[in-house]
Amino acid sequence: MNRSVVSFVGAGPGDPELITLKGLRRLREAEVVLHDRLAPPELLDEVSPGATVIDVGKAPGRACVGQGQINWLLVDWARRRERIVRLKGGDPAVFGRLGEEIEAVRSAGIAFEVIPGVTAATAAAARLGISLTERGRASMLVFTTGTDHTGHLPAALDWDVLARTEGTLVFYMPVGALDSITASLTSLGRDPREAAILVEHAGVAGERVIAGRLGDIAAEARAAGVESPAVLITGPTVAAASVPLTVRRVLSHAAV
Ligand SMILES: C[S@@+](CC[C@H](N)C(=O)[O-])C[C@H]1O[C@@H](n2cnc3c(N)ncnc32)[C@H](O)[C@@H]1O
Repeated sequence: MNRSVVSFVGAGPGDPELITLKGLRRLREAEVVLHDRLAPPELLDEVSPGATVIDVGKAPGRACVGQGQINWLLVDWARRRERIVRLKGGDPAVFGRLGEEIEAVRSAGIAFEVIPGVTAATAAAARLGISLTERGRASMLVFTTGTDHTGHLPAALDWDVLARTEGTLVFYMPVGALDSITASLTSLGRDPREAAILVEHAGVAGERVIAGRLGDIAAEARAAGVESPAVLITGPTVAAASVPLTVRRVLSHAAV
């Protein structure tokens, strides 16, 4: 009987101290670790020296291990070892293709568990003291994506609903689509003066914050040369953002 367990562990958004105690314990006990590009490299120091560590990260412009091969590797290693950790950036269940990996493991009859992590949206908000919800002002919080698997604005998004949402919108993977995202929202009625913030490399070296308004944040980001990974946050509570002293680089003071 196969006693293997695949643990999908959220590594957090980059700061190695943001992994959970449970995730860290699984990492230390693992015989095999398959990790993403955005998983903090410092966490790999926690892996036992005898363990097999495999980088399956997808970096822009670099040959990467395809999703099918990652699924295959998970199953293949789980047939040969008992403690497999699939270390994923942020929270495994947020834009992390967790469902596909679970399906591969489950259909091979292998046990699994999911250990959540701090997702980029909450990590970025925390860096700026932004409350993503607020009684009476932001009773809804939407995590959405700026690009689909082809790199374009997701066709399935209901922009009308997003434009009318009285709450906070957080866009993952927004960098290549900032003009389209902001134009889609403002052309359907969202106020172009609403505060908007881009947080690049939240909580890690190279962190930058671009603060502006929905109507100008795309131009601000272009001027600053913002790159992935970054999240875009907009909504009524964003204007109240305050920048803690630990955040060093704020590029525009329009909103903070
Ligand atoms: C494939 S998604 C993975 C999200 C991840 N599972 C999570 O919960 O944060 C990658 C996107 O997450 C966001 N992201 C991840 N780490 C980030 C960080 N340290 N700072 C800002 N955005 C980040 C960016 O939008 C990036 O393009």
